[in-house]
Amino acid sequence: MLFTRFSGCLAAVAIVASCGLAAPTTTTISEGVFRYDLSPEAREHALPSMSFLHPDRREGEADSSRQASTLPQIEWRDGVQHVFVGIEPGTSLYGTGEVPGQLLRNGRVNINWNTDAYAYGIDSPSLYQSHPWVLAVRPDGTSFGVLADTTWRSTFDLREGIRIHAEGPAYPVIIIERDHPAEVVEKLADLTGTIEMPPKWALGYHQCRYSYYPESRVREIATEFRERNIPADVIWMDIDYMDGFRIFTFDNNHFPDPAGLNEWLAGKGFRNVWMINPGVKAEEGFFVYDSGTENDVWVKLADGRTPFRGEVWPGMCVFPDYLSERVREWWAPFYKDFMAQGVDGVWNDMNEPAIFGVESKTMPEDNFHNADEAFGGPGTHAQFHNVYGMMMIRATHQGVLAANPNKRPFVLSRANFIGGHRYGATWSGDNVAAWDHLEWSVPMTLNLGLSGQPFNGPDIGGFAGNGSPEMFQRWMGFGALLPFARGHTGKGNIDKEPWSFGPEVEATSRRAIQRRYALMPHIYTAFWQAHRYGTPVARPLFYADPADPAIRSEDDAFLLGDGLLVKCFMNPQMDRTVVMPRGIWRQFDFRDRIEGDHSDPHLPQLYVQDGRIIPAGPVMQFVDEMPLDPLTLIISPDEQGAAEGLLYEDAGDGFEFRQPEGRRLTRYSAAISNNTLTIEREDIDGEWPREPRTVRVILLTDEGMLTADATDAPSIRIDLSNAERID
Ligand code: GLC
Repeated sequence: MLFTRFSGCLAAVAIVASCGLAAPTTTTISEGVFRYDLSPEAREHALPSMSFLHPDRREGEADSSRQASTLPQIEWRDGVQHVFVGIEPGTSLYGTGEVPGQLLRNGRVNINWNTDAYAYGIDSPSLYQSHPWVLAVRPDGTSFGVLADTTWRSTFDLREGIRIHAEGPAYPVIIIERDHPAEVVEKLADLTGTIEMPPKWALGYHQCRYSYYPESRVREIATEFRERNIPADVIWMDIDYMDGFRIFTFDNNHFPDPAGLNEWLAGKGFRNVWMINPGVKAEEGFFVYDSGTENDVWVKLADGRTPFRGEVWPGMCVFPDYLSERVREWWAPFYKDFMAQGVDGVWNDMNEPAIFGVESKTMPEDNFHNADEAFGGPGTHAQFHNVYGMMMIRATHQGVLAANPNKRPFVLSRANFIGGHRYGATWSGDNVAAWDHLEWSVPMTLNLGLSGQPFNGPDIGGFAGNGSPEMFQRWMGFGALLPFARGHTGKGNIDKEPWSFGPEVEATSRRAIQRRYALMPHIYTAFWQAHRYGTPVARPLFYADPADPAIRSEDDAFLLGDGLLVKCFMNPQMDRTVVMPRGIWRQFDFRDRIEGDHSDPHLPQLYVQDGRIIPAGPVMQFVDEMPLDPLTLIISPDEQGAAEGLLYEDAGDGFEFRQPEGRRLTRYSAAISNNTLTIEREDIDGEWPREPRTVRVILLTDEGMLTADATDAPSIRIDLSNAERID
């Protein structure tokens, strides 16, 4: 191995020089964040960053004496910039965005090139999104991350160290160095931004299919949820609501009154999300096409003049050039009338962009984008392909916000690029109703979170194909606890609503979704942490103990927020056992048992780390059905009898939370002595007024669970001899 860790930059430079390789040009961006370029000239001519929240921050300080311990080799060979970062044996690699298969990425190769990857497989080199980023955890638990800050097609080869090469001109390499992988991921978020605080309803359960139509079917689905007492917040409208797949239109026969439908849904506590794709039907008389043609907004062929045409759902289409600010400004106002129909959220799909009937599945790479100067000016599709979807949702987000300035936008996108989490959430595209895809749901969610996109999840139940009742049951069992929880399936498949597979699967689905709602205070707090610090909502087990090699490749479990471990049982035939992090993890359930007092084997097991308090609440049919009362505190004391936990609260939508009067972060600290449990409440941020409520304590002890109620107060004392035992 040429080099692993060096005590300092100077030593590294000396070693590299002695090997005959030129040292890269080094800049310190901030403490522990370094930028490397091929040469001073390459640095000077580097394209602007599209991943950074503030692209100028990539410039860093001109000169620095601070030290880096990981140094890349950078060379220009065969017209391409190659990067090599050596790793010491025992280093684990993660991230690289949306990738199929296991959590640990050592030994894998992926190509960052956004691709419509219907029914992808373990060897699919490229899925829908590009995150040219890898996170490394050294044997001692210290960590670094490598970002190749280029939008061009790039290859991440992790078979022997970290080897990267990318098309296009030379690009900067950013390395973040920290003591703990969580700090590296948070530092990445410091550079690339964090997610916006989502509306709380978007954290509820979502029900989708391709497609619920006509609108009477939408009403049937919503009614079933309420009649069957299965919590859900959102029903989704896939492409068939449109008139001939023309975007921003509604089919008069099947959806004659979208505003009336949305209002009816709202009356039942449902929000709605409707799909909008980038392909605009090339048809004179269609208002979007006419307006776009008049305003000259389409992506062009290589000649820079002729609009590119490609086939998607509506037939022959043209495509807005979202790389141009002028085009984004043109696109955004279409959402004004659309949102005025009572639309709550927008789903942007097919935005790799996907093109039918061509081998590349996308536009010609020599197509022309009239990109903003801020993005480096006009360029080819090869340069901007990977950010097309990101720029689309940036424009969508802008339009949705302008239409409803007092609501938090919710946008879901299939394609994206590192940093694009700033504009929308994502899901892992057209997966398959197959056991391997079910199992990848967790590692894919985790690696996306480690790449800066915490708000993601799979199509629960699988998009392609039917699957079996048992598969659906298992998938829903843990899928309901992933950050984005949506059931979805493709056209022509059997029904995949929670009740579609009979009473037993329905009962498991209800329990699984009820758990999500019971844990909503904790999940909302985890989303606030993602918004505030860039912390993933679902975290790999090694976050609990990065130096423990035994939990570095755990695919079947994850941490949901602080201190809650979700141990999944993916497959009935599975004989794998989950390796738990060291320390005391106390199991609990919501007493959501099946008859005869057995736990439901299709549900994951839940564990609370010692020293932690998990906030929970009543099961609701939708997130804002009623106030959080009682507030349940699930307490897992450490060996000293102490525990603490955070609870973030605000109005659940709107932007008042940006002011202290609109938010409240509370720390609850528990201590046990002389058989008395004391809970102190501390306001650590915000001044959102607190309504009176009951605090329900659930104390996890080695002898079982104890419970007692008290009034929420700055200090609560509970005599444990009077606490009730929960059997
Ligand atoms: C794409 C999407 C899928 C959607 C379908 C129809 O395949 O990935 O989720 O249902 O298009 O719009």
